Amino acid sequence: MNPTRNFCIIAHIDHGKSTMADRFLELTGLVEKNKLKEQMLDSMDLERERGITIKLQPVHMTYRIPNDKGQMTNEKDDFGIFNSDFDIEDSEYALNLIDTPGHVDFSYEVSRSLAAVEGAILLVDATQGIQAQTLANLTVAQKHKLTIIPVVNKIDLPNAEPERVAFELAELLKCDPDSIIFASGKTGQGVELLLQRIIRDVPAPKEAANNSLTALVFDSQFSSYRGVIAHVRVMSGSIKAGDTIKMMANQQSFMVEEVGVMQITPKPINELQAGDIGYIVTGLKRVADCRVGDTMTLLSDPAETALPGYHQPQPMVYASLFSAESDTLNLRTALEKLSANDAALAYEPHYSEAFGAGFRVGFLGLLHLEITKERLEREFNVELIITTPEVAFHGDTINGYEEPWIKAEIVTPPAYIGQIMDLVETRCGEYQSMHYLGTDTSDGDTAHKTAILEYDIPLAEIILDFNDQLKSITAGYASLSYDLIGYRPGKLVELSILIAGDKVSPFTQLVPVNQVESRGRILTKRLKDLIPKQMFEVSIQAAANGKIIARENVPAMRKDVTAKLYGGDVTRKRKLLEKQKEGKRKMRQLGRVSVPTDVFIQALKPSN
Ligand code: GTP
Repeated sequence: MNPTRNFCIIAHIDHGKSTMADRFLELTGLVEKNKLKEQMLDSMDLERERGITIKLQPVHMTYRIPNDKGQMTNEKDDFGIFNSDFDIEDSEYALNLIDTPGHVDFSYEVSRSLAAVEGAILLVDATQGIQAQTLANLTVAQKHKLTIIPVVNKIDLPNAEPERVAFELAELLKCDPDSIIFASGKTGQGVELLLQRIIRDVPAPKEAANNSLTALVFDSQFSSYRGVIAHVRVMSGSIKAGDTIKMMANQQSFMVEEVGVMQITPKPINELQAGDIGYIVTGLKRVADCRVGDTMTLLSDPAETALPGYHQPQPMVYASLFSAESDTLNLRTALEKLSANDAALAYEPHYSEAFGAGFRVGFLGLLHLEITKERLEREFNVELIITTPEVAFHGDTINGYEEPWIKAEIVTPPAYIGQIMDLVETRCGEYQSMHYLGTDTSDGDTAHKTAILEYDIPLAEIILDFNDQLKSITAGYASLSYDLIGYRPGKLVELSILIAGDKVSPFTQLVPVNQVESRGRILTKRLKDLIPKQMFEVSIQAAANGKIIARENVPAMRKDVTAKLYGGDVTRKRKLLEKQKEGKRKMRQLGRVSVPTDVFIQALKPSN
């Protein structure tokens, strides 16, 4: 059996993970060069269209060190590292790579991958330098005690600054800058060396102390032909087709139909052993029976303790989803199936006066919401109504509300610190700390190149447009990552809408005090345009704290549709009346006022 190395690639979004993975596939001969599609491991259409990774993706490769003993020797190598233990005899290695997404909304995918491997390649774009997600992912990798292999990537780009970036990385990792690999996933430069460095530096999987099977489920998916397919890391023991497995958390058992490794497509093998990463066809029909984070063991010889699983991630934003065709059953099935493939998706039934039966869904961020919406529409053919995303508040009007706060880490070139501080202040942020990375001494210039700012900020202040604002005031240079830190009393008030004097409860919402007036104005203005003229003047009012804070009027109209028809053209007259009737059907009565049914969607949709 070949010695094994398990690793993943972590990086800030777009720093080149999937492209680097392409080069690995090519170098190890798993995919022939002329058959390789760009970002091969991004298998979903949506991922390829948008050029982003959404799902983690395991791949099993075999690497043979070339006869000329590659680019590494046992001597002190080009990179100043000497490791006399490394034996580069001509031999083959099994490499298990897990490609992970870079965007903060998909960080649950990253943390699950990190628990299944021994090493992580930390890629940093040579033109961008260290960014917020570089730090966030590195912190998680260090918590898992992974061996980190730092790489400065995209060195082929004309504006690359590999030395500066390496210097900063070295400071961050407290390592020798000369040990950092310079590479380009595009041209392939440095990639072979990187593979060899993985073999040399990432520890082989540890021999387990006992032989009972424990296998960590780090991902699962549902196939309508084969049922639930689990991706596992075997920690101890072994597993093969025919074994009867017990899931340690939910006690379900099943007989293994097939085991194998992912080589872009699944390749069945005889047995997965301790240290291996592979898939298991369970035949189970419900993903809930084979949850991500659960431990598989043998029914006949169960392990005593389960592996530490995962914490279900906390949703950051909530929105309510309804089927536009009132086909709630179809929406439920779609959500069930999608959550089989997305362990971070949380939902529960929810009834709304405005939209009827639907679901309240928690998302890890707005991109997660957007991707979920697109997948539901594309993969499951449901037409959706989605309410404005909001954070979860605790409490009530009497005892007061609490709102979620986050710790935000903003990474930026120092030139923009002033603007960022101004922005964060308008968002009620509380300054925590600031420090610098990298003192560039290569040309005698001692200016700092990267600053890291820490703030506590109410989540509601950043969730919608903070990142866009941050990008626009810093010419795209600054980046943000954040973690929930808890709930604090919030200055929130109830904003309600009265139409012709009647409170219309679907419009009632909790709003931060400083935004209540502007929200009230936006809502009344929108409603003025959306509500058709009635036989009487209709007032639209926004109220908060017992006061009217905004008001608009829809002037009255005598609605005689046939008035302008002279003569006795009966058919035309009938047509018009019929049209009016049809129009009426799509209307809904709010007190004395009839409004088009989509008024809620139109009025409550997020403003751009
Ligand atoms: P996410 O998974 O969405 O975080 O992205 P990623 O880190 O996988 O990045 P990806 O490989 O998709 O690359 C992002 C962009 O950078 C693509 O347009 C690539 O073609 C480009 N790119 C990646 N590596 C290199 C490189 O070494 N040199 C150059 N010039 N471009 C690169």
